[in-house]
Amino acid sequence: MNHILVTGGAGFIGSHTVDHLVAKGYRVRVLDSLQERVHPHGWPAYIPESVDKIQGDVRNRADWLKALDGIDGVIHLAAYQDYMPDFSTFHHVNTVGGTLLYELIVERQLPIKKVVLASSQATYGEGKYRCGEHGLLYPNSRPDAQLARGEWEVRCPHCNTELEHQRITEDTVNPHTTYGISKYAVEMTSFSLGRKYDIPTTNMRYSIVQGPRNSFFNAYSGICRIFTLRVLHDQPPVCYEDGQSLRDYIYVGDVARANVLCLEDERADFRAFNVAGQRGTTTLEYANMVIQTAGRHIEPLVNGDYRFGDTRHTVSSGEALQSLGWRPETPLEQVIAEYVEWVKEQPNLRDFYAETAQKMRAANIIRRAQS
Ligand SMILES: NC(=O)c1ccc[n+]([C@@H]2O[C@H](COP(=O)([O-])OP(=O)(O)OC[C@H]3O[C@@H](n4cnc5c(N)ncnc54)[C@H](O)[C@@H]3O)[C@@H](O)[C@H]2O)c1
Repeated sequence: MNHILVTGGAGFIGSHTVDHLVAKGYRVRVLDSLQERVHPHGWPAYIPESVDKIQGDVRNRADWLKALDGIDGVIHLAAYQDYMPDFSTFHHVNTVGGTLLYELIVERQLPIKKVVLASSQATYGEGKYRCGEHGLLYPNSRPDAQLARGEWEVRCPHCNTELEHQRITEDTVNPHTTYGISKYAVEMTSFSLGRKYDIPTTNMRYSIVQGPRNSFFNAYSGICRIFTLRVLHDQPPVCYEDGQSLRDYIYVGDVARANVLCLEDERADFRAFNVAGQRGTTTLEYANMVIQTAGRHIEPLVNGDYRFGDTRHTVSSGEALQSLGWRPETPLEQVIAEYVEWVKEQPNLRDFYAETAQKMRAANIIRRAQS
């Protein structure tokens, strides 16, 4: 394999993956639609000169065909991700876009030797828990009536006791957002068509990815950018629920290495891997780390706001990918410090979160518990 197409290569994970591929001597092409809210100023300057850039949409056959010409490996990262209720767009971009890649490889008999796709921790939904009496459980979303009462922990559907969260392994998925469902739909399609037509395929279930170039124009998600923008504007970071929700965070450079490892290593064929961080961190702990890194004297705000559809504790196990020789090398403290420095260098910085939060409140995505 020599010539690699990276879709979404102008974006956050895509551009770091491109850098890693170029450093390893690959010829690289990028297909990216330059989504307005991610790239309001067009092609970002960080894409290396040697990279061939095509502006196009993964929902468009002609754009795919142009981009796939002469290519022998694909890292497919272009996707739609949001919290807003435009449900069908997730399927249009993520499910249809990914399926179209396989359709064209088969239809045109393209000599693609490997496809690596960006899946997500979102395929696990609420995640993995244990009940003392009922054993391992993969519960559904917490009922909104429970959250409205300010009761945050996940409860056993059989005996209503609080459940103990477990590190999530790759074996059981249970997506409960349209985004997560769209990602799992592409996983199943890519494995099914990949096996049938002999197109080696790997799906990467990233935990929350962090690092420079995580566009701060789109503040719908991304704890690091939201908290950093708030703190740099001397505003308190808002921790949803009680600030005790656990997540694992992974550095974008570690993710880029994982993508290229799975592109190259046949042991990864037809498998889905968690790309997990070093440890679980609470939202409150994270907020305090950002405040400390930025050197501000602010207290995080825990005011009973919660995000409809959020999960409680989502921490993945990275053991399967680690068995191929990969490690999450970068500690969270270093990731936050690097991101804060990067944000400070960006021109025209606004507290984008304030506008986004207003929209999300109007759409009833951000709600407030009664107690
Ligand atoms: N960032 C995370 O924490 C995270 C976590 C889990 C999974 N993922 C997945 O990783 C991938 C990359 O995410 P990211 O964080 O780098 O996002 P990003 O928004 O920075 O990059 C995505 C890129 O895809 C492009 N794009 C969007 N729609 C497109 C379309 N229809 N056709 C062509 N290009 C299009 C955008 O312009 C952007 O450059 C996505 O598939 C995402 O679902 C990300």
